[in-house]
Amino acid sequence: MNDTPIKNIPVLWEAIRLRSQAIGFGMPSDLQTGSLLATLAASKPEGRFLELGTGTGLSTTWILSGMDVGSHLDSLDAEEKWVQVARDFLGNDSRVKFIVQDGVEFLTQALPAQYDFIFADTWPGKFTHLDLALGLLKPGGLYVIDDLFPQPNWPEGHAPKVPRLIEDLESRSDFHCTKLGWSTGLMVVTKKR
Ligand SMILES: C[S@@+](CC[C@H](N)C(=O)[O-])C[C@H]1O[C@@H](n2cnc3c(N)ncnc32)[C@H](O)[C@@H]1O
Repeated sequence: MNDTPIKNIPVLWEAIRLRSQAIGFGMPSDLQTGSLLATLAASKPEGRFLELGTGTGLSTTWILSGMDVGSHLDSLDAEEKWVQVARDFLGNDSRVKFIVQDGVEFLTQALPAQYDFIFADTWPGKFTHLDLALGLLKPGGLYVIDDLFPQPNWPEGHAPKVPRLIEDLESRSDFHCTKLGWSTGLMVVTKKR
């Protein structure tokens, strides 16, 4: 198997990538992660989805491509300038609501057990406030994270947090975890029923 070619790239993905590059967005997710997000998203018909870390909408467009018409996505980022790009390209899709808010504030206020799928691609809900994020999952819900292999854009002092996060997730008896040595280093976690 050659797992490099990625098929079914969402139509707006390349345009968002170009705009992201033009405005200096330096934290884009890659095609492999996007492909997995779409595949997993399609397993949750009529699902409620949460994306922590919209960025400019690259991963958002993949999640939307996997979601069915009855699903809904809340996509959150603290930076208006990045979310505006996502809005420009994806704002016409009534299945998505863009939220500009700090992740900690959002996680603290959100109702528990309401999401079928969470892509956690920022600090709150991943490297901090993990309990709050996992508490938002319904039984059977999926929690997906990337960037578990060393990345050039990691800030100083970030590296030791990654093995701690993985150990924390794997120590939880109420979750199934799978690590994937693919893309930027992925983990798929399911809340047991
Ligand atoms: C890795 S990027 C997201 C990339 C995006 N998912 C993609 O596929 O390209 C992380 C994002 O987290 C946002 N962010 C950083 N700190 C945050 C916070 N405290 N609350 C919410 N978002 C935050 C940044 O603005 C940035 O857009």
